[in-house]
Amino acid sequence: MTPSVSRRDFARLFAIGGSAALFADPVWARQAPPAASFSPGGASSGEAFWKGVREQFVMPPELAVMNAANLCPSSRPVLETLTRESRSVDADPSPNNRARLMPEKEQTRKALAEFLRVTPDEVIITRNTSESNNLVSNGLDLKAGDEVVVHGDNHPSNLTAWKEKAKRYGFTVVTVEQKNPHPGMGYYVDAFAKAITPRTKVITFTHLSSTVGDLMPAKALCDLAQQRGVLSLLDGAQSFGLLDVNLGEIQPDFYSGSAHKWPCGARECGVLFVNKRAQDKLWPSIYSAYPGAVGFSKKFESFGQRDEATMIAFREALAFQTKIGRAAIEERARALTTQLMDGLAKLPGVKVWTSPDPALRAAVVSFLPGSLDANKLADALYQKDKVAITTRGGQDRAGLRVSPHFYNSPAEVDRLLAGLKRELSA
Ligand SMILES: Cc1ncc(COP(=O)(O)O)c(C=O)c1O
Repeated sequence: MTPSVSRRDFARLFAIGGSAALFADPVWARQAPPAASFSPGGASSGEAFWKGVREQFVMPPELAVMNAANLCPSSRPVLETLTRESRSVDADPSPNNRARLMPEKEQTRKALAEFLRVTPDEVIITRNTSESNNLVSNGLDLKAGDEVVVHGDNHPSNLTAWKEKAKRYGFTVVTVEQKNPHPGMGYYVDAFAKAITPRTKVITFTHLSSTVGDLMPAKALCDLAQQRGVLSLLDGAQSFGLLDVNLGEIQPDFYSGSAHKWPCGARECGVLFVNKRAQDKLWPSIYSAYPGAVGFSKKFESFGQRDEATMIAFREALAFQTKIGRAAIEERARALTTQLMDGLAKLPGVKVWTSPDPALRAAVVSFLPGSLDANKLADALYQKDKVAITTRGGQDRAGLRVSPHFYNSPAEVDRLLAGLKRELSA
């Protein structure tokens, strides 16, 4: 049963009300979220719960943005924290006021460690996944004769980055090519096992690909790397904040992520996990002031002046997701994806690039919309249906990409499918 919760209870759960009134300049802060039926931790109570969650975002109710793989909105509590903390520094930029920010940053590190189920000693707060990936490819001692095995479906920050550094330092990049449709977890474990040689020093792959949403066998590949004595970098840009990621179990040497994607955090904040066992192999790329206070961050995180407000807001984003329930978020995004996949399968002429097997995908779906121009189609959906998705250009599995998250609804997915149907039959 879904208990009906008053607006006051709802506001208290997400710490809205009072503090919003104190920092009431931004328009969104003036608009208190409407009353909602809400049961804390009660995602199983259905659409009323998710409607309440959606009301914690400032996106207008009629706008359906399904582009989480690119950029997610920050929730009201995150916006509120960001504004409050920014204002505090600008109102009083004295060393005395800023002194409190160091412990705040450490609280964010602690929250990140809990979220990823590792220790604060292993967490570096970066700007984004690109920076995290590059801190790894810059920081390892690699030379001529060494090999790095990369998955061909990696993002440029984890593909071009290695290829360019190979030119500079003389090591070799070996590519495990992506296969479409997803050939199964076993295929990639075998392919990486074959690609690793006595010269291999690192393997790197993307947990959930941004191209077509292929889920990779993260634990099996990290286990393989450890067995073969090589380091593993797991790009988590598309899994962090979507999947209930447990790095304690997966045990990569390095894991990277961005706050502004699935965690719905503030922009320009990210994470790099550096496993204790790999810390003596990674050189800092930046030497400056203001290091972290614990573990590897003392040596590695002297990145100079940062925006502490963003880091504190990042922590709020993690708390927001934790309140909703990590497993519930993953389940919701996966259910919306299955609804989308089922609908796409019924649309004539659509070629879906994403695996039909739910075990091989999560919440990123790409497809070719028949012979329609993808840009024009995306524009028509935005203008006529108020549904925002993104396009994939180029020759490689081109078309459209949809990435729904927990703030979307089954009705929004239906609206997208109806819009697609209309445009395809026009
Ligand atoms: C798999 C993957 N890695 C890295 C990145 C880079 O993320 P950011 O732009 O947040 O640095 C992206 C961005 O889409 C991505 O999808």
